[in-house]
Amino acid sequence: MDPQQRILELRRQLNHHNHQYYVLNSPEISDREFDMLMKELESLEAGHPEMDDPLSPTRRVGSDLTGGFEQAAHIHPMLSLSNTYSIEEVDEWFGRVRSSLGGDGFEVVGEMKFDGTSISLIYEHGRLVRAVTRGDGERGDVVTSNIKTIKSIPLELQGSGWPEMFEIRGEVLMPWDAFERLNQERAFNEEPLFANPRNAASGTLKTLDPKEVARRGLDAYFYYMLGPDLPCDNHFDNMMAARSWGFKVSDIMTLLHSLEDVDGFISHWDKARRDLPVATDGLVFKVNSLRQQLNLGFTAKSPRWAIAYKFAAERALTRLRFVSFEVGRMGIITPVANLEPVLLSGTIVKRASLHNEDIIRSLDIHEGDMLYVEKGGEIIPKITGVDETGREPGAKPVEFVGKCPACGAPLVRVEGEASWQCPNKYHCPPQIAGRVEHFVGRKMMNIDGVGEETATQLMARGFVRDIADLYDLTESQLLTLDGFGPRSAQRVLEGLEASKSVPYDRVIYALSIPFVGDTVAKKVARAFPDIDRLMAARAEEIAAVKDLGPRIAESIVGYFAEPRNREVVERLRAAGLQMSQPEESGEGRTNLLEGKSFVISGTFSRHSRDEYKELIERNGGKNVGSISKKTDYVFAGENMGPAKKEKAASLGIPVISEDDFLAMIGEV
Ligand code: IVH
Repeated sequence: MDPQQRILELRRQLNHHNHQYYVLNSPEISDREFDMLMKELESLEAGHPEMDDPLSPTRRVGSDLTGGFEQAAHIHPMLSLSNTYSIEEVDEWFGRVRSSLGGDGFEVVGEMKFDGTSISLIYEHGRLVRAVTRGDGERGDVVTSNIKTIKSIPLELQGSGWPEMFEIRGEVLMPWDAFERLNQERAFNEEPLFANPRNAASGTLKTLDPKEVARRGLDAYFYYMLGPDLPCDNHFDNMMAARSWGFKVSDIMTLLHSLEDVDGFISHWDKARRDLPVATDGLVFKVNSLRQQLNLGFTAKSPRWAIAYKFAAERALTRLRFVSFEVGRMGIITPVANLEPVLLSGTIVKRASLHNEDIIRSLDIHEGDMLYVEKGGEIIPKITGVDETGREPGAKPVEFVGKCPACGAPLVRVEGEASWQCPNKYHCPPQIAGRVEHFVGRKMMNIDGVGEETATQLMARGFVRDIADLYDLTESQLLTLDGFGPRSAQRVLEGLEASKSVPYDRVIYALSIPFVGDTVAKKVARAFPDIDRLMAARAEEIAAVKDLGPRIAESIVGYFAEPRNREVVERLRAAGLQMSQPEESGEGRTNLLEGKSFVISGTFSRHSRDEYKELIERNGGKNVGSISKKTDYVFAGENMGPAKKEKAASLGIPVISEDDFLAMIGEV
């Protein structure tokens, strides 16, 4: 077979297997076989640039394209649904539909209301051309690059019979398991948690790095098709057609013929929804016939032919066993309610954070109280109240501890906040273990093979008292740990070795300096390109750096004022860690673009947008936000919006491509 033919064949096969795996959940080949087909396609495509296709299955993983979001107007405004929590109101809606349509000659489709973020996809000639978020209903963000990373979304349709152009709407979701994984990882990195899968899905869809989007495991269900020549005259059959073209359409889509059917559907799913793999917040009922939908029409905000029934937040009552007080890596004490296990929204809840002393006070929690736990759209269970009738006579109010539960040090109140802190930074075991765990984390030194348990064991055996001790670990010490064999020991040693090339800004982040997260660490590294300069910096100098400010400055100065921390840094330096920023040494700087201003727009394939911005600056050019007469070049990637193109043309400003730009700085 000639290579061009083979490329087409491989694309067809890979699309088929993606659909089997991500939509139908029934893979026909092993992951390994799939990977081999993918590799073959990648290498053929590399040798045949003329066969390039942005919709090839190889382009789903998200290269390091960085999408800035252009906006686009919706062809039909994206309206919402009128919604209710009461079955009676659903019944009233049914009655209104019946009288408007003049009798019982109509069907209703009952389906799930998915709790994610809505998306509108446009297909032309069977190919995905654009994906737009809801935005304000009239205009939304163009997120095509991110949407392409969702493997269950067909980039090219299968089967036949699709209209030349149509729109399909659905919900981008984060399945429970992906959501839990993401939050665990964020908890570990001490990043703010997503409150629920809906926030996680919408936050992820707006992430500027498609690679990160690809990693987070989004999925999408489709529930509404629009266009001038749809295949069928009713919603249900259109959705079945969509399914046959490769879209993920929920199996829970039922034709209902009477009010009894509707009520039965509600009472069934009110309970059964707990076992679904994705978050739902209710049910949607739609009149099936498109002609009848047209007759019923819309109000200003929503269609009269549909209604959403929302599930009430689930609440359970359970007994408080005890309150534990947990110590984080910064010494902050978090009170946690340990509960008699109770089933809530499909998971067993045993613990719920009480956040701080004020919350315990305001809920007036007593020992052994019966507590209400709620989990509405929020995944993290919340204590919302106390059932005082369940209180034992003589039960004492829960008191916040005065001493650190781990090391016994008297606690101090964090200035201006509701939390208490253990001041014993250098000897309190959970704080040290927390810092070790942070240090080895993926976004910090990325040392494989050391997790929470290993960190605790390393401390318990006295091998590790601070993060620098990690670099003195020997194979024979590691082999004494529970569950460790030669391979796992080797993995840790290799991880430690590899961490010596982790860039300087991540080393700063890994040190656990209060208020220095990853973004701040980058700014610090840029302003103080080696650790000696940083250690010598005065608070005013640090505070003067854009976006840093006095609180961060005091924290950094306080950290390095402590001899123990300076010693740790010296030992890390001696171990071979990166203690300076190579790029800023002046190398790679030119004045090739001296005095030229650039507006950069769209998505790119060779470097990310931020990298291009940096390249512009390093070569003496200037980045500006919007096109004006003074702009010298518009640097356009894929998907640059039509408004910008027009503006550039009307002002006669040259629009340059990635290749043009690279040629300007002599990189090709
Ligand atoms: S139909 C014109 N069906 O709920 C109405 N929407 O509150 C088109 N949603 O913006 C929407 N599941 O994001 C429809 N099965 C479903 C749905 C659903 C979730 C979302 C959608 C919409 C919002 C309205």
